[in-house]
Amino acid sequence: MTLSRRGFLGVAGMAVGLSGCGLDFKPSQAGELLKSQAPLPEAFAVPLPIPSVAKPIRTANGVDHYRITQRKAQLEILPGLRTEVLGYDGQFPGPTFDVRSGRTIAVEQVNQLDVPTVVHLHGGHTPSASDGWPTDLVNPVGGMPSGHQHHGGHAMPGDVREGRRTYTYPNEQRAATLWYHDHRMDFTAPQVYRGLVGLHLIRDAEEEALPLPAGDREVPLVIADRAFEADGSFRYPALDPTLMSTPGVESAYMEGVVGDVILVNGAPWPVLEVDAARYRFRILNASNARRYELHLEGGPSRFVQIGSDGGLLDKPIEHESLVIAPAERFDVIIDFSQYAVGSDVTLVNRLGSGSTAQVMRFKVARAAKDDSAIPAKLSSYQVVETPKRVVRRQWRFRKGASGSHADWSINGRAFDPSRMEARPRLGEYEIWSFVTDVHHPVHVHLSPFQVLSRGGAKPGPYDAGWKDTVDVRPSEVVEVLIKFTAHKGKYMIHCHNLEHEDMAMMAAFETI
Ligand code: C2O
Ligand code: CU
Repeated sequence: MTLSRRGFLGVAGMAVGLSGCGLDFKPSQAGELLKSQAPLPEAFAVPLPIPSVAKPIRTANGVDHYRITQRKAQLEILPGLRTEVLGYDGQFPGPTFDVRSGRTIAVEQVNQLDVPTVVHLHGGHTPSASDGWPTDLVNPVGGMPSGHQHHGGHAMPGDVREGRRTYTYPNEQRAATLWYHDHRMDFTAPQVYRGLVGLHLIRDAEEEALPLPAGDREVPLVIADRAFEADGSFRYPALDPTLMSTPGVESAYMEGVVGDVILVNGAPWPVLEVDAARYRFRILNASNARRYELHLEGGPSRFVQIGSDGGLLDKPIEHESLVIAPAERFDVIIDFSQYAVGSDVTLVNRLGSGSTAQVMRFKVARAAKDDSAIPAKLSSYQVVETPKRVVRRQWRFRKGASGSHADWSINGRAFDPSRMEARPRLGEYEIWSFVTDVHHPVHVHLSPFQVLSRGGAKPGPYDAGWKDTVDVRPSEVVEVLIKFTAHKGKYMIHCHNLEHEDMAMMAAFETI
């Protein structure tokens, strides 16, 4: 089957293969900078927004039911301008799910947009039918508007629904910071870029027994870069006819779209007033392609990492800076009592330059009482011993050499939803190795993994804990130990640089 890979562009029939845009091959970043046409706002001028918390509409038989409406909204992201977002409940980021481990929720997603959507709970131990398979589309309520077409003209096997779909999440997993986002075949990058992201927090008794900062001192930071048109709308290659008539645009931007405005929780370079006390930040890199090296300026730079993608670490790890690839999460404590009251502490990005070298600012506003602590032992998390006999699989990520969409691949093949590349057995450990050419943040659905080695040496400073996404650097091999449990069905592994993902850098596997 031949699949169209033009979702990234949203058009078919473009001449491709030119590379006139000067690919950005800085070693720290795969991607091409897209500059805003709107004037950039002043940094540290708007307060950090906190996403709302989703509320169940009813509870029946121990299951909490939610309804989320995917709709367009006009938000003021840049002061004085309006940005049309595609938002869960019209919000960007969408409402945060705040749920208990082991308690099932059912989320009815209603699509009031004019494009098909798919919802994936990233990091979720989710039955296959609710995992957000890229061709399990939810079409808009009332069908596709006239003038729009389903692209490609090829058959895409999938469980397609009209208007709405209910996703069931058992939340049978330890406390962790998950997130949900669009996963539509060929169009994940533009749809996430336009706003379809939100957080999903799972809590459990083990974590709640710890004296960690909580309440107002537990703050999510969803970091995402964007570019804006002069009228305030999101600038993205597929959405911009002037860009689309520029030769070479496709091949440049499929390396990854990186913008020049850094948003945190949907606000540009925001500011948060804090007490001189410990805060817990759940940091998510929700950017399509941008990596960050987060660092604090205005005093000592010290992050105490307590958790990663898959929940608490066994013990805290201190970092002077944090390198975070797309889709990774870091759960960290920053102790603002180490700064003078009245001081400004700026979260910067050491991999950025100019406007992208800054992320947000903390204003240490007042002295305050602090009952929190960071225990030396955080959880019963264990580093798993590698069994002697174990299935090994290798996944080689290769970027396309030209604008042709056929040559972005894993193990030499572009994604085909009907072809299973592996059949791992439930309950058995496997060692997977990820092999790259350029930077690829590699993500596996269904179950988390532990990093065993990086570049033939021990795991890196940011590899601790249960991970579901790992930052694999150029020409590197990362080995992980993984075990799938409980759910049989089809799942996927893919690159989480969303432009790479849309170029079919995904592979299907089936748990048996
Ligand atoms: Cu966050 Cu398959 O994705
Ligand atoms: Cu990639």
